[in-house]
Amino acid sequence: MSITLNSPLDMHLHLRDEEMLQTVAPLSSSTFSGAIIMPNLVPPISTKEALDEYKNRIKMAIGEDTFTPYMTLFFKPTYTKEFLESMGDELIAIKLYPAGITTNSEGGVNGFEVEELRPTLTAMSELGIPLCIHGETNGFVMDREAEFVSIYEMLATNFPKLKIIMEHITTKESVEALDRFPNLYATITLHHLLITLDDVAGGMLQPHLFCKPIAKRPEDREALRKIALEGHPKVMFGSDSAPHPQHAKESCGCAAGVFTSPIAIQVLTELFMKHSNLQKLQAFVSDNAKRIYKNIKVPKKTIILEKKPFIVPQKYGTVVPMYAGEELAYSII
Ligand code: DOR
Ligand code: ZN
Repeated sequence: MSITLNSPLDMHLHLRDEEMLQTVAPLSSSTFSGAIIMPNLVPPISTKEALDEYKNRIKMAIGEDTFTPYMTLFFKPTYTKEFLESMGDELIAIKLYPAGITTNSEGGVNGFEVEELRPTLTAMSELGIPLCIHGETNGFVMDREAEFVSIYEMLATNFPKLKIIMEHITTKESVEALDRFPNLYATITLHHLLITLDDVAGGMLQPHLFCKPIAKRPEDREALRKIALEGHPKVMFGSDSAPHPQHAKESCGCAAGVFTSPIAIQVLTELFMKHSNLQKLQAFVSDNAKRIYKNIKVPKKTIILEKKPFIVPQKYGTVVPMYAGEELAYSII
């Protein structure tokens, strides 16, 4: 039996730049129709010129593949409505990082004073630009996301017309928040549907599973699985595939990020099959995103999978993927 998916989308992706971009971009563009591209380069993407140039470099790296990079800016509270209007249709969303919370986020937001954020968030609301948020406080690592829920609520209440996307949610508290506010949405990664903190640090430390937010408890994973597998209309697949060179992962001071682009669709298919929810996979990997992000144009692309073993390569360039060397049950044909 073969499985068909139409125009899969990755609504949270790190493509990096230069050699890394050349290595990883084709691994997304061969499978996905498009992806929301994260702006946390060094320096972060914060001007029209930088955004347009980065989009061009991505297009060069993917060659002939049918794939649209949906570009984002790195949030700054100083963006004016005129500036955002001048970005035109190329700007799909803005990504907000709390300062210093993860890779290359030093220029992020210090404190969430609503009046300080109001001009930019009002302009975004009026222009229909979604706000993607890395929702973690700088508290105890296991509590950071749950502590951030009150900030999501404050933003959702003060800016009711702003679409707020809780990126890569990992906790049952975030799942519960989703249905309390009509303007809150979420992405979920592949790895947070699969692993808990036990897989990262319960035995020998697994650097290739270390990411921000860190994987949480089994009951959190259950809550995420439930809404992903039921194709909850406010939830989208966003891999947060975040490549780092092997030496930066297997070192003292391991960089955060799990690299999943080349395995994501195959493993999601297996997960949805296992739970007899295959009919909801299309909603999770494409249809919900098309409805939520009204401002994206999605190129047509058909992906066919079969139950045929796929041995995950040990490395792509310098990057070790999740499940390196292991056999997956489904292959893209
Ligand atoms: O694990 C992560 N890696 N989480 C993030 O938020 C950023 C990402 C990266 O850019 O490496
Ligand atoms: Zn990310």
